[in-house]
Amino acid sequence: MDTPINPWSSQQTEDIEKLFSLFGIEHISTVAGILPRVPSFIARGVVVGHRDYGQIAEAIRDGRPFHVLTGFMPSGHPHLGHLMVMKEVVWHVEQGGSGYITIADREAHAVREIPWQRCEEFGREYLQCLYALGYRGRTYFQSRNNVLKDLAFEAATKVNFSELRAIYGFSDETDLAHAESVITQVADILYPQVESSPAPTIVPVGIDQDPHIRLTRGIAHKLRMFTVEERDGYISVRSKNAPAEALAEVHRMFPGSRKYEGHVDIPRAGCREVSTLVRKVEIAHGGYGFYTPSATYHRFMPGLQGGKMSSSIPESIITFFEPDDVVRKKVMGAFTGGRATLAEQKELGGQPDRCPLFLLNLFHMVEDDAELAEIHRRCREGEMMCGQCKKETAERVLAFIRDFREKMEAAAHLVKVE
Ligand code: TRP
Repeated sequence: MDTPINPWSSQQTEDIEKLFSLFGIEHISTVAGILPRVPSFIARGVVVGHRDYGQIAEAIRDGRPFHVLTGFMPSGHPHLGHLMVMKEVVWHVEQGGSGYITIADREAHAVREIPWQRCEEFGREYLQCLYALGYRGRTYFQSRNNVLKDLAFEAATKVNFSELRAIYGFSDETDLAHAESVITQVADILYPQVESSPAPTIVPVGIDQDPHIRLTRGIAHKLRMFTVEERDGYISVRSKNAPAEALAEVHRMFPGSRKYEGHVDIPRAGCREVSTLVRKVEIAHGGYGFYTPSATYHRFMPGLQGGKMSSSIPESIITFFEPDDVVRKKVMGAFTGGRATLAEQKELGGQPDRCPLFLLNLFHMVEDDAELAEIHRRCREGEMMCGQCKKETAERVLAFIRDFREKMEAAAHLVKVE
């Protein structure tokens, strides 16, 4: 499995910009301006890329309905590395999105061999974190959701093994449950539009999840009865597998339209308006009427040791249940953007932009922009050495965790395993 973006690799892919152009991910700056208020995770460059976020930003701006969904694999305790996506979900709910969280216990069981009971325990912890951050919305465990499983089966009619091989590098040895966990994630992403009603859906994820996003976008399109395309001076509605009666109805809805074998051409019409009506016809005839889902991609916070933050490397992460002295030790022992000697650092200054501790402050520990800029300046100008910064950061982390634990406790009663 050595495709360039691999959701199961523990190696973080470095060259984000290169990946973007390789896979057609756009820079978030192309659409951020549509938002009435740019959240700090975009302003600070944490969320960097997107697919089709324009339709979400417009829904926020215009007060139209949209869904926000993401998922967590319960293969270990939640830690600081999971907070970014959680905050993104909470923010989108606050902007009017209807929230969905999936606990990917099928994936954890299939790919990481986590026993079901452990999946449930870890899953509860993730949900508790979300509620502590102010999440409001629906939650489910994949293994307990029958509508989801039926949707996964339907989605599976649109994928074959050579596609899975091309996207994920699956081989003849890959077990079937692994493929099932992939199609379950596809169903997760489409689920809000089935459980509630079709609407743009934003899926905040790390760049490693892009293969799933691409696969799902393709399947969402294949599961549509119609495509609506803007042509020179008219809109073309093409039937892919719509019943004849549905196409006839589209024709009747638009006076002046012309009907051909398999498509209807509508002169002088707006694409958005036609899409909306065609979607209604599709749903009335038993179709899904999916909006192709959107995604945002955030950078990963580096592990405290400089590599990836991963549950499999305990020194790289801080969970929410560690004793204070362990937290302090991890922060004090972290890799930094410091120089080889103190003298050199005083002369050249530190390198905050590649320092895991600075990024920890930037991601989560310092909300005030001016305060963050001051930390950056003091480091870069050789005014503050790593030892001092570590001490200050450790205190911030401890204060954060204490507060967060209290919030988690207060939110425990909201967690439902279903
Ligand atoms: N595969 C994701 C992970 O490894 C978890 C996940 C399952 C997910 N379903 C999802 C993420 C739907 C986003 C959307 O963490």
